[in-house]
Amino acid sequence: MLSDVVHSQVDVHAPYGGVVPELASRDHLRNVGPVVRAALSRAGVAMDDVGGVAVTNRPGLVGALLVGVQAAKGIAWAAGKPLVGVDHLMGHLLAAFLRRGEGDPPVPRLPFVCLLASGGHTAIYRVDAPRADAIAELGATRDDAAGEAFDKVAKLLGLGYPGGPVVDRLAAQGDASQVKLAAPMPGRASLEMSFSGIKTQVAMLVARGDPATRMPAAADVCAAFQAAVTGVLARKVVAAAAREKVEDVVLGGGVAANRELRRRVGELAAEHGLRVIVPPPASCTDNAAMIAYAGAVRLRDGEHDGWDLVATSKTSLRRTTRKGRGKR
Ligand code: KG4
Ligand code: ZN
Repeated sequence: MLSDVVHSQVDVHAPYGGVVPELASRDHLRNVGPVVRAALSRAGVAMDDVGGVAVTNRPGLVGALLVGVQAAKGIAWAAGKPLVGVDHLMGHLLAAFLRRGEGDPPVPRLPFVCLLASGGHTAIYRVDAPRADAIAELGATRDDAAGEAFDKVAKLLGLGYPGGPVVDRLAAQGDASQVKLAAPMPGRASLEMSFSGIKTQVAMLVARGDPATRMPAAADVCAAFQAAVTGVLARKVVAAAAREKVEDVVLGGGVAANRELRRRVGELAAEHGLRVIVPPPASCTDNAAMIAYAGAVRLRDGEHDGWDLVATSKTSLRRTTRKGRGKR
């Protein structure tokens, strides 16, 4: 990795407590040019030195994706470079391969099992090769993503947006044993997950809370919530790796920046003789370097896209977990 420029939209969305799609697109439009120029200049390379232009075209908010796709088409066409569409989830799944120069984890050995936990997706995958047709979803959330639950809990507690980093920080000062929360879908046999129920549990706690004594304390709620969520995520990804008989467990997505999750997966994996590969936080949360890497892999394999590349809300990875309630 020669450079990684991230323009955060946190300030744009913070007043609303979540992403406002129209504001996201408009902010992308303003910043895409300057960010690309900064990335090239910090890397010390000219467009002539570039092998191709990779862009996330799925899954996500189509208005936001469209800005990137059209910008990438313009840049690639003008510079005479191949255009490479990348599934955002593929970027997260391969982010552990990025070499930033410091804090790099060992290079994952294929096949590996990866927990991808972000604001929009939470799933466990078996990765046999860095191609969509060689990646199998072993289990996913039936409802909310884990990051979404962190964000909603933070909002309920009035801690601001995005919730993950604040809950992570506050949980470290709290006592999880002060607050009783049932673990979300802890069943060991299933790799499917659910995070909407625990959010409701927290909402009920907050509604019942005593405003005079401010009980339960926000730090204790954060600690109990984080322990419940990271406990289930850690147990399921390690169980998946043991079941699939792989040697490496890889973490990816914004929630993989969570310190308790990193610690718990590390401990459990060690008990099972598995190696855990935890990318530095900058590779876990959204970044363009992971998209460039996944694009470079496609380009190396002789693949690229035409000018008809479209932005779409759906992932190219095959899904097996059905969304919604009910017995399976
Ligand atoms: O991968 P990401 O940056 O963007 C998406 O593709 O969604 O993930 C963002 C999510 C947000 O829900 C954010 O609250 C969560 O990752 N997150 C965290 C932490 N840092 C970011 N969740 C828990 N602990 C953290 N330290
Ligand atoms: Zn992401």
